[in-house]
Amino acid sequence: MLATVEPRDEPDLRKRRGAFFTPAPIADFLAAWATGGRPDARVLDPTCGEAVFLLAAARRLAANGADPATTGEVLHGVDLHQASLEHSRALLKAEGFDANLIAGDFFAQPTPAQLGGTLGWMDAVVGNPPFVRYHDHKGQTRRRSAAAALAQGVRLSGLASSWAALLVHACSFLKPDGRVALVLPAELLTVGYAEPVRRWLRERFASVHLVLFEQLQFRDAEEQVVLLVAQGSGGCDAFALHQVRDAEELERLHVFDGVAVAPQAQGKWTDLLLPTERRALFRRVTTRHFADLGSYGAPELGTVTGANAFFALTEATRERFNIAGNDLTPIVPPGTKHLQGSRFTRGRWEQLRLQGERVWLLNPKTNRPRGGLARYIAHGRGLGVHDAYKCTVRTPWWRPPVVGAPDVFFTYMSHRYPRLIANEAGVSFVNSMHGVVLRADAPTIARDALPLLALNSVTMLGAEVFGRSYGGGILKMEPSEAAVLPVPSPALLARAWKTIHKRREHLDELLRAGHWQQVVEEIDAAVLIQGAGLPPQDVLALRFEASRLRRRRTRKDD
Ligand SMILES: C[S@@+](CC[C@H](N)C(=O)[O-])C[C@H]1O[C@@H](n2cnc3c(N)ncnc32)[C@H](O)[C@@H]1O
Repeated sequence: MLATVEPRDEPDLRKRRGAFFTPAPIADFLAAWATGGRPDARVLDPTCGEAVFLLAAARRLAANGADPATTGEVLHGVDLHQASLEHSRALLKAEGFDANLIAGDFFAQPTPAQLGGTLGWMDAVVGNPPFVRYHDHKGQTRRRSAAAALAQGVRLSGLASSWAALLVHACSFLKPDGRVALVLPAELLTVGYAEPVRRWLRERFASVHLVLFEQLQFRDAEEQVVLLVAQGSGGCDAFALHQVRDAEELERLHVFDGVAVAPQAQGKWTDLLLPTERRALFRRVTTRHFADLGSYGAPELGTVTGANAFFALTEATRERFNIAGNDLTPIVPPGTKHLQGSRFTRGRWEQLRLQGERVWLLNPKTNRPRGGLARYIAHGRGLGVHDAYKCTVRTPWWRPPVVGAPDVFFTYMSHRYPRLIANEAGVSFVNSMHGVVLRADAPTIARDALPLLALNSVTMLGAEVFGRSYGGGILKMEPSEAAVLPVPSPALLARAWKTIHKRREHLDELLRAGHWQQVVEEIDAAVLIQGAGLPPQDVLALRFEASRLRRRRTRKDD
């Protein structure tokens, strides 16, 4: 039974403290395991809310032989919200149970190893930490949370939501063979800021089980969750992964049903979100028929100017200051909105120049600027450009470290999927994109073929698996992540390009018109079915998984 909310607990207050209460079947399932069949297990819910976990644990202890009246000695709950605690006390009392309930910020609780700790060592930590996002997780609670996590060797970034530090701090109350059973956001597996937590999880526990749900489990929260069930100390190389449809299916879950997975030491564990057979299919296809993008050429960041608004110029500005051509380098304008198809041609550059886009990058060859160049530099000084951090760390400030023209551009921040674009214009670029200079031994067709043939469901799924999802559903791929993006291998590229190169114009038109799904279907047929010999149902499965992870990230339909 879900506890009701005190009238003075307005929805935005609940949201700000992350008060989304756990469905009872999940709390029962976790408490049953966490108490380990013992009548005397010391159990802590660090953010107990309205006691759904404490009640479940109390019933288990009683079922294991404990006297209900003594549960106050072993059950401990902390919560910021006084009204929730009073409600918890009433709910426990109504069933003859008791608990040590503490009102306050759990991050202010010293661990048992620290001076002033009152809670003592625990056999089990249960609960569902608040998912308060970084913009609401602020002030003293944030500072305390960062310090508490750091005390356990976990340095969290400013983007971390509250659950990350709470998980780490709560586990510092566990005895060496202690058990943790928590509801966590599934972003544990996918987001950049959780990287230190993923590393810590592998090093902290002797065994780790993760339970993933196909369906959302919280009526009032859009968040997908994962159950973390771990125990012991010392670290482990493999986790057991369980996938269930919903909370009801938990009852039928058997510990031997789990699939052993070796989560990566670095990076994300998004591929764990794939159903077992689909994960195996993805790994099989990428191993046999795909290669890392980096094997064609290393993705590099574009020129970091420190002030693109000054260093990237329009034709009009160039004319107004009469800056000579050899002090400028032609570039694709900052951003990606003007890159619709799979090719960036000289004609397109010319079009953008006439449309007033920033197609020039300041790249003075002289150390003694004169005339228009000198005036433009003085103009920049007037604007304070020389104070920009990146300008202060180079001499002269007005000469950015311009990178050469790549063969292919790579859109590393994308709403839908990252794209490769053939740089037929041969121009340079700034840090709103990555660029790939193809290796000398790369196939000669690579520059033209990769951008189109990468629009296949395996590469798209790879982007979701190896990329990082950011607020607002943006997918970001740092150069090191772009380098491991699976793209068709040289042999597969050659096979598929035989068919596709004849359709290039038409497919590019479809892309520019926004019909990307039509293009993906055609590329999948050429690359995955004809090229790699995959049965159509496997291609549909891979396309479905790419779309599922994309929709999950963007929270929008394709
Ligand atoms: C997601 S709810 C979980 C409540 C309960 N454990 C359950 O599973 O239903 C999170 C709870 O954390 C509490 N909370 C948020 N920040 C806290 C903090 N820093 N210290 C203690 N409790 C906190 C909220 O008041 C809320 O009751």
